[in-house]
Amino acid sequence: MPTDLHLASGSPATADADAVVIGLLPGSGSEGPRLAPGADEVDAAFDGGLAELLALAGATGKADEVVKLPTRGTLTAPMLVAVGMGKPDDAVSGPGAEQVRRSSGAAARVLAGTRHAVSTLSRLDLAAAAEGSLLGAYTFREYRTNGEGKTPVGRVDLLTDAADAEATLRTATALGAAVRTARDLVNTPPNDLFPESFAARARALAEDAGVEVEVLDDAALAAGGYGGVLGVGQGSARKPRLVRLRWSGGAAPRAKVALIGKGITFDTGGISIKPAANMDHMTSDMSGAAAVVATTVLAARLRLPVAVTATVPMAENMPSDTAYRPGDVLRMYGGKTVEVLNTDAEGRLILADAIVRAAEDSPDYLVETSTLTGAQQVALGMRTAGVMGSDEFRDRVAALARGTGEDAWAMPLPAHIRADLDSRIADIANVTGSRWGGMLVAATFLREFVPDGLPWAHIDIAGPAFHSGGPYGYTVKGATGVPVRTLFAVLSDIAENG
Ligand code: BES
Ligand code: MN
Ligand code: ZN
Repeated sequence: MPTDLHLASGSPATADADAVVIGLLPGSGSEGPRLAPGADEVDAAFDGGLAELLALAGATGKADEVVKLPTRGTLTAPMLVAVGMGKPDDAVSGPGAEQVRRSSGAAARVLAGTRHAVSTLSRLDLAAAAEGSLLGAYTFREYRTNGEGKTPVGRVDLLTDAADAEATLRTATALGAAVRTARDLVNTPPNDLFPESFAARARALAEDAGVEVEVLDDAALAAGGYGGVLGVGQGSARKPRLVRLRWSGGAAPRAKVALIGKGITFDTGGISIKPAANMDHMTSDMSGAAAVVATTVLAARLRLPVAVTATVPMAENMPSDTAYRPGDVLRMYGGKTVEVLNTDAEGRLILADAIVRAAEDSPDYLVETSTLTGAQQVALGMRTAGVMGSDEFRDRVAALARGTGEDAWAMPLPAHIRADLDSRIADIANVTGSRWGGMLVAATFLREFVPDGLPWAHIDIAGPAFHSGGPYGYTVKGATGVPVRTLFAVLSDIAENG
């Protein structure tokens, strides 16, 4: 059961709950920490000495620090949870949304096993507190039979006096649910999530939200000439699929947006096989697809006034006697030919088919996301997505991403790279002969399949989609659900501004 969120008013000091959550900010210089705004009644119950008391207990207010204090009757709730918020993004306006989101996530994690908490962080930013609580409380326990992994916090009351609180909570809850859906799909192991079963789950999610669904199976892909998806998928006994989802945008959609997500349900590398170390992470090679499915369903649930068509190619990249080979030439959807020089550069091949198909509907914008290159991790690290595409829209998408707390940075597509993809015999090769700028090379390949003049963005999430380290903020081990919040921000922005 996901955590239940409720709006609440009144004093946290007298709230009938198991725990009260407050924020703590680091002091400047040699000063001790200070309470974040929103904790006045709690501080008053401690005679105004709460910050000092927490400092005595070792609290400093740094991000991800959590100090639990038994209240012994000072508050109605028996436990106080003081969570560090780190340095304010902006000293004047106080803690920013991402600080609230992360500290709410950290609180939700330590509250695992607690039935009922009350949060004051929502007084700073209701939406951020709601999102952070839902995402920090996330666990994936489908495959545990030993009861390990604590029960998430049962209910969080979010204190607020915001005027539009109900609508804000409704949107934040739906967004949180979409991120959790994407995480569930990515965390599901590849023996259970393969193209056919992934397509079935996408269909079920879509139908439940009134989203139109079309699934092309391998026979339909062959009839349609989808050489990229078929080529990559032919080495696996689990046959490829192409899923199309459509949300109409209601009566008067503001614009038409094509979403595309890479759905490699497992990437061994194929005949150009990957080394064994960490190959299990390639269970997350369908993170882009998961995000696109979840976001399209979300757009429908919230009746966003944008027409969204998702095109999601799904395949398993396996080595076998039927696998495609280095040296093969694929005839892609739309007719271009591609010489495969490395079967591990498979994502761009299934995406090229999807891009050409999506562009046939003449969208106003095209956004594609994929765990496309290890080079993204080398260039930007594990938490910052690379955004490439047409200049203006690329910058807009990168800025919107940062606004959601999903970090992203715009990257260039230098013109000289294209020549490195020249093929000896086909229109283009799928890799160059060098390792430089691999993220930009992949995007340059994709650009060949995007119609001139169409605003497009490619979001490489190889690093940010999957988190292997310890938890921080609202990010837990495993699937992160990135970039659902970015895609939703882009759709919302287009709904508002065209
Ligand atoms: N799925 C991988 C990229 C990836 C690597 C995602 C690590 C997440 C973590 C992709 O299909 C791939 O294998 N890319 C190759 C491209 C190369 C052969 C040009 C890579 O990055 O090594
Ligand atoms: Mn690969
Ligand atoms: Zn891959």
